[in-house]
Amino acid sequence: MKVDVIVAPTFLKEDDLKGCLCAVIDVLRATSTIITALVSGVAEVRPCLTVDEAKKGVAKLPRDSYLLGGEDMGKNIPGSDLGNSPLEYMSEEVMRGKVIYSYTSNGTGAIRKAYAGCGRPVYVAALINVSAASATLVKAAAGAQGKGIAIVCAGRYGGPSTEDFFCAGMMVDRIARGLRKHGVETQLSDTASAASDIAAANRGNGLGVLTSSEHGRFLESIGFADDLIFASRIDLYSVVPIFDGERVVLLK
Ligand code: MLT
Repeated sequence: MKVDVIVAPTFLKEDDLKGCLCAVIDVLRATSTIITALVSGVAEVRPCLTVDEAKKGVAKLPRDSYLLGGEDMGKNIPGSDLGNSPLEYMSEEVMRGKVIYSYTSNGTGAIRKAYAGCGRPVYVAALINVSAASATLVKAAAGAQGKGIAIVCAGRYGGPSTEDFFCAGMMVDRIARGLRKHGVETQLSDTASAASDIAAANRGNGLGVLTSSEHGRFLESIGFADDLIFASRIDLYSVVPIFDGERVVLLK
């Protein structure tokens, strides 16, 4: 089975994802935040393509049923309830049962684009659920669903980002090992091999990868150093969110 890593959605060509099992990664910070929100009891997350879409989405809901969150080029969305720090999404009291509408500069669009490309539900992954997300892909692939596995990195403003590529490499290794146990051999694309090499070279150095990345340095410079520590916690959670084309919910 082919395993591919797409370094950013801008690198996707038409039909690349068609029929594939897909996971989307945005370690800093959209997928780390979505996973955390769902663990905290949020009912669903609506990843939006624009700020306007998010604002229109919440406009028709009762005020106590939703939260508007995310960021636009690093800044909170005017009028929003929350930004895009996973640490803001940890209060079960605040999160329980809420619908979150979120727009972020790279991550929410990557989820939508991956869904549009593969035409099937998309898994949401980050370092904080890397093993659970990989195991879910293995289970689905071993059940012969999909023509291959594609891991889509959200990247940064159209280009690659080291932290997503590192996480993708960790997934590649886990997926290859997992599929082998089911008697399925994997063929890695060149990007999947390169991601695996980066993950191997940085084993045990997740926080170092995040702090030395461009986006990590940017987040530190605007006061979010704690987000890097949180987002680097490998396998903090064992849940896997899934996007069905409209909402992200926890896979049962
Ligand atoms: C994004 O989608 O670009 C990110 O999640 C940005 C961030 O909040 O750090």
